[in-house]
Amino acid sequence: MSCFGRYQQHYHEEDKNENKMRMRNKYRKPTTLRCNAGTRCSFPVVVWSLVGCLLMLHLYSLVHHKDGDGGDIQFRKAHHQPLFRELAEVEEENFQIPPPKGKRSPRAAKRRPKRPTTLIEEFLDESSQLRPVFFPDMKTAIDPMKEGENESLYYYPARIWLDTDGNPIQAHGGGIMYDDKSRKYYWYGEYKDGPTYHIHKKAAARVDIIGVGCYSSKDLWTWKNEGIVLTAEETDETHDLHKSNVLERPKVIYNRNTDKYVMWMHIDDANYTKASVGVAVSKSPTGPFNYLHSKRPHGFDSRDMTIFKDDNGIAYLIYSSEDNSELHIGPLSRDYLYVTRAMRRILVGQHREAPALFKYEGTYYMVTSGCTGWAPNEAMAHAAESILGPWETLGNPCIGGNKVLRHTTFFSQSTFVVPLPGFPGSFIFMADRWNPANLRDSRYVWLPLTVGGAADQPLDYNFGFPLWSRVSIYWHKRWRLPYRLSELKL
Ligand code: DGJ
Repeated sequence: MSCFGRYQQHYHEEDKNENKMRMRNKYRKPTTLRCNAGTRCSFPVVVWSLVGCLLMLHLYSLVHHKDGDGGDIQFRKAHHQPLFRELAEVEEENFQIPPPKGKRSPRAAKRRPKRPTTLIEEFLDESSQLRPVFFPDMKTAIDPMKEGENESLYYYPARIWLDTDGNPIQAHGGGIMYDDKSRKYYWYGEYKDGPTYHIHKKAAARVDIIGVGCYSSKDLWTWKNEGIVLTAEETDETHDLHKSNVLERPKVIYNRNTDKYVMWMHIDDANYTKASVGVAVSKSPTGPFNYLHSKRPHGFDSRDMTIFKDDNGIAYLIYSSEDNSELHIGPLSRDYLYVTRAMRRILVGQHREAPALFKYEGTYYMVTSGCTGWAPNEAMAHAAESILGPWETLGNPCIGGNKVLRHTTFFSQSTFVVPLPGFPGSFIFMADRWNPANLRDSRYVWLPLTVGGAADQPLDYNFGFPLWSRVSIYWHKRWRLPYRLSELKL
């Protein structure tokens, strides 16, 4: 049984987007309106003219949306980046749900008709016949050291990805830092190469802390294992990093004032009641990192988190708080080792986690997930003029695949967004396809992300008009950057 219809997507053209961007800027920051030099227009005239313009543009937008529907493969033009355009191709994906296992007697079937299996249930079922679709085996692993010329540099979301030694990369819930000094990318993440177990029946699946894995690369595709740069504590049970605890979502940034690399991470106990953030520091991107302390930032519980370094060098901690019902954001100290007192509550009551923050043309964007443990759910994109908020929710950024792929963030959960230098508006979306039955075998889903075009989720107060650019994450079974990053002269 084929379970999904074709995806109907709205498409916009670049020039129209630019009009909308202009509109967006025009309406976002109201200034005093003057008709001629020194003559103020009457308020109702200005308001009705604005409403008229908005309605005209809205009608134009609706007609245009219709024009774009219905094709097999269509293109959303990425903003300002012809090289990235092919990555904005909308690809579809059809999974066949296998027939139910075992035969049922006609009487049993009559008594209780079998509930149709959903793809999410199949995804979570270790014995599902679809298992190899969600977690392809070693035979299909991406091995950058072996790939032939034609195959090189291709990302295959969810396939096993080998490092330069031929071992599966262990950097889950990770993030990437570009180091200007060594001109290399460093990927830090949870090193989860241990057995998965539950401390009690109702507890989340876990792997003991092993440490934070670090991999280096010049091209974001070939990764050299730099080792475990922050290691678990084997004996001292009172230590935050004792193996029986939880270390998740490590992120590293470079501090210019101290010439140190600073790592922030989620620190917890196995029941997730400690709900704190930990800080570690190193002189080198490849460690070893020296663990300093953990805290409940601003006195609040903190679970999924990330850090973001702004262009002006100010860095921020963003964390899910108040039992994941809202996010908090606050600037770090000059040395990045502490949070300062300032803090804003954002996305209050929206129950979001796994924040991945990035910036484009002065606007801040964030992708988050819902809160469903290791199970996948729908991503949301958010935007803000000021990093401290207010933040607005733009809607689901996922494009292509099929309905269930889009509603499960392609069966994965956001962790980081990497800007592609030299290609403004183009990013790599990094996500984890968690495997709760065997967390060490969780996979990476990397996909192209662009910012551009009008957001299609109308906000409450804007007459149905998009005020923000759209964040788009495009599904691809396989894709590659349209250039060799390592050879790029930036
Ligand atoms: C969802 C979070 O995003 C993950 O980092 C991890 O904490 C799991 N929950 C644990 O269930």
